[in-house]
Amino acid sequence: MKIAIIGGTGLTQIKGLELSDTKKITTPFGSPSADYQLGQLNGKEIIFLARHGNPHLIPPHKINYCANIWGLKELGATTIIAVAAVGGITKEMYPGRIVIPNQIIDYSYGRQHSFFEENLTEVVHIDFSFPYSEKLRKKLINTARQAHIDVFTEGVYGCTQGPRLETAAEISRMEKDGCDLVGMTGMPEAALARELELDYAACAVIANWAAGKTEGTITMSEIEQNLKQGMTEVAALLAKI
Ligand code: HPA
Repeated sequence: MKIAIIGGTGLTQIKGLELSDTKKITTPFGSPSADYQLGQLNGKEIIFLARHGNPHLIPPHKINYCANIWGLKELGATTIIAVAAVGGITKEMYPGRIVIPNQIIDYSYGRQHSFFEENLTEVVHIDFSFPYSEKLRKKLINTARQAHIDVFTEGVYGCTQGPRLETAAEISRMEKDGCDLVGMTGMPEAALARELELDYAACAVIANWAAGKTEGTITMSEIEQNLKQGMTEVAALLAKI
C-alpha cells in the first residue's frame, strides 16, 4: 500500500515529512497543482500534493483534478487520503471537528470529471454507490480512536462550485437533500480516484458553520482559526496512520 495525501486549505505542507524527492509531472491532462513531495512520515513512505498549489493560489473550480490524480497513479500511489476544509451544516458538524464522510452529493459543474471521454474503445461507467473506500475509512476511524482523536464517523459531503461561499437558501436546500457538510473540492476528485481504481477517503475539517447556520457573515479569519486547530489533529492522525 502506498499512501498519498492531498492537502487542502490549511494543509499546504505536512509537518514532520522528511522530504527525499520532489517530482514534477506532466500528464496527458496537463499539469498537477504542484510538484509531488516524496518522503517519509513517521517512517513510512508517502507522497504529498498541495491541492491548491504551493503557494496556495488555485481556486477550487480551477484545480486540474484529472492531472492531480493521474500523477499520483503514475507515482505508484494505491491509496489517497484527501484532507479538505468544509462548512458544517447539521447539528453535530461543529467548527474544529474532523469528519470522515461516507457519502457525496455533487453540485459542482463545468469541471473535467472523467478520464474516459476521448479515444474510447468502450463507454465506461464506474460503480460509485459508495464513493469512499470503506476499508480506508475504517482505517482512519480506528487509527483516530487509538490516538484518542475525536472524529465523526459519517456524513454526507455536498460539493459546491465555489469559489464563493453559499447562500443561506442554498445551504437550506442542501440540508433538505441530506447534506451534512459543504465543501468545494470533493468532486470530481473522489470519482477520478475510483476511475483509476485507487482507494480514496476524505478527512474533512470543519472550518465554519455553513451559511445561515449562525448569525452574521462567515469571515476568513474565523475559518483560518478553526482550521488551525483541526489541522493539528489531522496532522497527528496522518502521522499515526
Ligand atoms: N462552504 C464551502 N466550502 C467551504 C466552506 C463553506 O462554508 N468552509 C470551508 N470550505
